[in-house]
Amino acid sequence: MSKKNLVVMFGGPSVEHDVSVITALQVIKNADASKYEVLPLYWTKEGPVVLLRNRQPYTTVQSLIESNTRQPVTFFSGGFKAQDFFGKSYENSVVIPCFHGTDGEDGVAQGLLDFFAIPYAGSNVRASAVGMDKILFKALMKENNIPVLPYQVVTKESGVEPKSLKFDFPVIVKPAHLGSSIGVKKCDGIREVTDALETVFELDTHALIEPYLSDKQEVNVSVLGSTDECQTSVTEEPLSAEDILSFEDKYLRGGKGAAQRALPGGEKNGLKGMASLDRRIPAPIEKNQEARIKKQAEEIFKVCGCSGVARIDFMIDKKTKETYVTEINTIPGSLSFYLWEAAGISFPELIDKLVDIAEHEYKKKAALMRTFESTILQKDI
Ligand SMILES: Nc1ncnc2c1ncn2[C@@H]1O[C@H](COP(=O)(O)OP(=O)(O)O)[C@@H](O)[C@H]1O
Ligand SMILES: [Mg+2]
Repeated sequence: MSKKNLVVMFGGPSVEHDVSVITALQVIKNADASKYEVLPLYWTKEGPVVLLRNRQPYTTVQSLIESNTRQPVTFFSGGFKAQDFFGKSYENSVVIPCFHGTDGEDGVAQGLLDFFAIPYAGSNVRASAVGMDKILFKALMKENNIPVLPYQVVTKESGVEPKSLKFDFPVIVKPAHLGSSIGVKKCDGIREVTDALETVFELDTHALIEPYLSDKQEVNVSVLGSTDECQTSVTEEPLSAEDILSFEDKYLRGGKGAAQRALPGGEKNGLKGMASLDRRIPAPIEKNQEARIKKQAEEIFKVCGCSGVARIDFMIDKKTKETYVTEINTIPGSLSFYLWEAAGISFPELIDKLVDIAEHEYKKKAALMRTFESTILQKDI
């Protein structure tokens, strides 16, 4: 039986570019080589999308990003073509987008793949866009009676005056369309808010201000499936060193060489050491709270119209026991494989499931009628 082309797409013009390289490497290393011809498609920092070819499988971040077999690609309907000497075409592929953040996780890359009719794992354009936009996401949650913390939207043009600030200090300032805690800041006064907004507006067009939840417990859970049917993984409690879970907490715990070790399961998957995020799996929470979070997570996944694997993050107010959804990650770091392993699904099995869901969703969409017979083109205009 011939192998299926599994295209691992990653990189992109995003501040989370480097995190994406690590997720991609983990997927490349864990895809079942007996089933798939793995094709790494790297959206480089310089711009072009290149196919990386190497006789040896990539084993380190360096070997991947410094690969000297970069062949720029062009897409066509149903596949892509490497602009190498032989100009080989790749059809019958399934893409696993491993992007994080701007242009890769927000629907832009998904739009490209839809345009060229290439099946891909994970959420479609709509769900990706909602998932990446904290303002849209919160509005959608409110519409569906799922609790979110109150928020105030600020743009560079609107700015924020002390008297227009809706909340008492401390507050949290965050970019509306980024991730990995980049630009997220706890602020104790208006001066800090102004400074934090200045940083945000270097990275994003919109900022959110929220009241700071001081006595909180963070709980994340992954969801796998589609809007027809989905399941939840075990929960995790990510542990932060300071007031907020920072980029350093997430990927750089352990100092030197941490980029190699970044993301959970690094050691086991050939990326040295698991010096990244400290976490408790499962999250130490009451059974009824866990059941509520899992039920809400499935509801959120469906309301957003997600597909494939996502991770949904919550904060519990320890005083009131109220649970708030913080955000959804439609392409979670490491594809949340460590939460599925703990639920009895191995990383290679997770990849197989993502491919199956991708093909199913693609067929579902392709079956929709796209023509509508009318007489309007026969009219003189
Ligand atoms: N309103 C808040 N109160 C307290 N901590 C918060 C609040 N919002 C965010 N945080 C902290 O900041 C982290 C990152 O915020 P989040 O909204 O998840 O942004 P990102 O998409 O960058 O991960 C959270 O994991 C949490 O630790
Ligand atoms: Mg987060």
